[in-house]
Amino acid sequence: MAEDATAKLGDVQIDEDTETQRIDPWTVSASKAVNYDKLIAEFGSNKIDSALIERFERVTGRKSHVFLRRGLFFSHRELDQILTLHENKKPFYLYTGRGPSSGALHIGHLIPFLFTKWLQEAFDVPLIVQMTDDEKFLWRDISLDELEKITISNIKDILACGFDIEKTFIFSDLDIMAQSRAFNRTVLKVRKCITFNQVKGIFGFGESDNIGKISFPAIQATPSFSASFPQIFGNAKNVKCLIPCAIDQDPYFRMTRDVAPRLGFVKPALIHSQFLPALQGAQTKMSASDLNSSIYLSDTPNMIKKKINKYAYSGGRDTIEEHRKYGGDCSVDISYQFLKFFLEDDDELAKIEKEYSSGEMLSGELKKRLIQILQGIVKTHQEKRSQITDDIAREFMRPRKLKYTY
Ligand code: TYM
Ligand code: TRP
Repeated sequence: MAEDATAKLGDVQIDEDTETQRIDPWTVSASKAVNYDKLIAEFGSNKIDSALIERFERVTGRKSHVFLRRGLFFSHRELDQILTLHENKKPFYLYTGRGPSSGALHIGHLIPFLFTKWLQEAFDVPLIVQMTDDEKFLWRDISLDELEKITISNIKDILACGFDIEKTFIFSDLDIMAQSRAFNRTVLKVRKCITFNQVKGIFGFGESDNIGKISFPAIQATPSFSASFPQIFGNAKNVKCLIPCAIDQDPYFRMTRDVAPRLGFVKPALIHSQFLPALQGAQTKMSASDLNSSIYLSDTPNMIKKKINKYAYSGGRDTIEEHRKYGGDCSVDISYQFLKFFLEDDDELAKIEKEYSSGEMLSGELKKRLIQILQGIVKTHQEKRSQITDDIAREFMRPRKLKYTY
């Protein structure tokens, strides 16, 4: 299917046997596990194949990140053009974001940020991170005062991933709309290009949605254009942008790519990840609004252990005898799926897959390994986060020139 920003979202019937799924910025729900190949066809993006991964490694001179070589970042738009720019030593930048909605991020939110951090190192380019506090105000029952605190708290979690202060600008929408005429000019231009009918088609907005929601997509589109950040890009008004995000955010950027040529801007490129699934199963993503579906970055070691043992959906058999005889099913086992994201050692992962599938390894043993790994990741994260002071966070948020000149 060709790229089409007005392609309707909705319940898409994807198989003869009534397999359905709905993926948009607010909903991830599938009758079986999310079918990512069908999503590529529906959204009109491109699959990241082994040839593209090889080119990625050649151009950056690095072994690809686990998320890339295991197919977890699986889809893209114009990633090949980004690699060509890098090869020719031409500039581009990274843009990603977060809707600050609860005090703590969950480990699923780490996926795009950890990958973005790796991209920033591999390419040595500026990174812009948008905190959509305005979005959460419009969508959730949450006060602006509360949001101010949550936003800073979320920023500390993001910065704990290790971004370079000389290469990174992170901003809240409420701040930038008060500070920056250039940002506001792009917002206005984008708004002027989009009709209510179009956002209705793309996002499913209706006549009883508040008018803030209806105009919000222009705000998420705006950081895709370098003209919005003169303090960073000077007069370079058409620097190309690469957006890493999970695939739920793609509707915003289909719209952005659709309006770009009409504004005389280059289209942003994208690289999409799959979702870290909910503990209960791959029919939906880990979501901050469901306490029992998620492992939070603020969880204690004991909470992690309890949640994995109690809730992580198992592909193991009902009895030990049956498990030894028939083996476990990695394709539905959530602990195994989490290891695919978080266990770096390829050999160990392959060994676990083999032993679990053959019945040699039991669910309890698989969970035990996952618990160790997640406890380690969360502990390291908490240590790094505790070193990010308010002053450090404020410095990342100060509108300023980064170490690059255009
Ligand atoms: P938010 O805060 O819902 O999510 C932040 C980022 O995390 C991704 N994500 C996940 N990735 C893997 N597994 C999961 N279970 C999971 N849950 C969430 C999201 O796709 C996103 O990349 N409106 C946006 C903020 C935003 C933004 C951007 C994001 C503004 N500009 C540009 C990406 C790129 C939001 O509320 O994301
Ligand atoms: N709209 C996203 C959400 O609520 C947050 C967001 C804003 C975002 N800009 C983004 C996510 C860019 C990914 C990429 O889920």
